[in-house]
Amino acid sequence: MPSSPVPSRFSMASKAGVLGLGLESSCDETAASVVLDGREVLSNCVFSQVDLHSAYFGVVPEIASRAHLEVINGLIRKALEDAGVGFKDLSYVAATNRPGLVGSLLVALQSAKAISFTLKIPLIAVNHLEAHLYAPFLEGAELAYPFLGLLISGGNTALYRVDGIGELKTLGRTADDAVGEAFDKVAKFLGLGYPGGPAIEKLAQKARARKMVFPKILPDPGDDFRFSYSGIKTAVINYVKKNPEADPAEIVYSFQERALEILVRRLFDASRREGIRKIVVAGGVAANGRLREMVRERQEEGDIVHLPSKGLCTDNAAMISGIGYRYFASGAQSGLDTDVYARI
Ligand code: KG4
Repeated sequence: MPSSPVPSRFSMASKAGVLGLGLESSCDETAASVVLDGREVLSNCVFSQVDLHSAYFGVVPEIASRAHLEVINGLIRKALEDAGVGFKDLSYVAATNRPGLVGSLLVALQSAKAISFTLKIPLIAVNHLEAHLYAPFLEGAELAYPFLGLLISGGNTALYRVDGIGELKTLGRTADDAVGEAFDKVAKFLGLGYPGGPAIEKLAQKARARKMVFPKILPDPGDDFRFSYSGIKTAVINYVKKNPEADPAEIVYSFQERALEILVRRLFDASRREGIRKIVVAGGVAANGRLREMVRERQEEGDIVHLPSKGLCTDNAAMISGIGYRYFASGAQSGLDTDVYARI
C-alpha cells in the first residue's frame, strides 16, 4: 500500500505541471500512459491480448504474463514518445499491484520499480479497482468525495462508497461470477467468441420479438447489495439445451436485459440509502450501450452520473497514472519491496 510520506523534493510540481507514467498489466491488456497533473491524458497506449486468448475463450495466465513481458518496454517508449516527453520529465511512476493475475501484475510493477530506482522518482502502487473509478476525472469531471462507484468488469462486480483517496467501502459485491464473466461464459456457450460482452451487445440489437425468456434476478432480502450471476448463466445454458431452435439474438437480448437491470437497480437503491447522488460507473461492462441507456433512463434530477468514455472503461494505464497522481500529490509512495496481490 502506498503509505509512507515522500521527501518534499519529490512533491514539487514544476511550472509545466506534474508528469506521471502509469503502467498496467493486471489481466490481458498491457498499457502505458503519461498523464499531466492527474487530469490530462497526454498518451494512452494499450496492447490488447484478446487475439492470443480468444481460442481459449478466456485469459490463460501463463500466455498473458509472457505477452506482457514482450511488449511492455515498447509500450513505455511509445507512451513517452506520444506524450512528447522523456524519462527525465517524469515526477512519479505508478503501476497496478492489485488485484489481478500475479504473474501478469509483476510485469508492470517490476518495470515501474526499475524506473523508480533508476530515475529516483517515487513509485506508486495502485489498486486497479480504485483506478477504474478514477476514469471520469481524466475527462473533465470534478473529483469530489464522497461518491458511489459501480465497478463492473470481467473480474469484478462491486458497489463501493468512496469517501476519499484509498477509502473504498464495499457496499456489495458478487457472490459468484462477475457480470462480464457471465457475458463471456454465455457468449462462449453460444459460440459468439471472446470477449463476450461486445458480441452479445451487438447480437442483442438484432432481436425482434424481445420476449423476456429469463426471470428477473431478484435481490436478496435485507439491505446488502449483493450480486449473483451464476444463476442466470446456468438458466441460459439450460434454456438453450431445451430449446435448440431458439433464436440466439432473442436469448442474448433477454440475458442482457436481466443481467444489466439488476446493476442499475442496486446502484440507485444504494445511492438513495447512502444519500449520495454522485455516481461513477466504470469497468469494461460500463462500455455497454444498453447499460448506459438504462442508467440515463433511471437518473433523476440532482443525480450526477459519470460514465467514462468507452476507451477509458476497459483496462488502460491513464487511470493508473491518474489515481497515482492523487497519491503522489498527497505525499505517499510505495517501497521497492512492494508486492503484488491477486486479491485486495
Ligand atoms: O475492465 P475490463 O477491460 O477488464 C477486466 O475484466 O478487468 O473488462 C473486460 C470485461 C469482459 O468480460 C468483457 O466481456 C466485458 O468487460 N465487456 C462488455 C462490453 N465490453 C466489454 N460487457 C458487456 N458489453 C460490452 N459492450
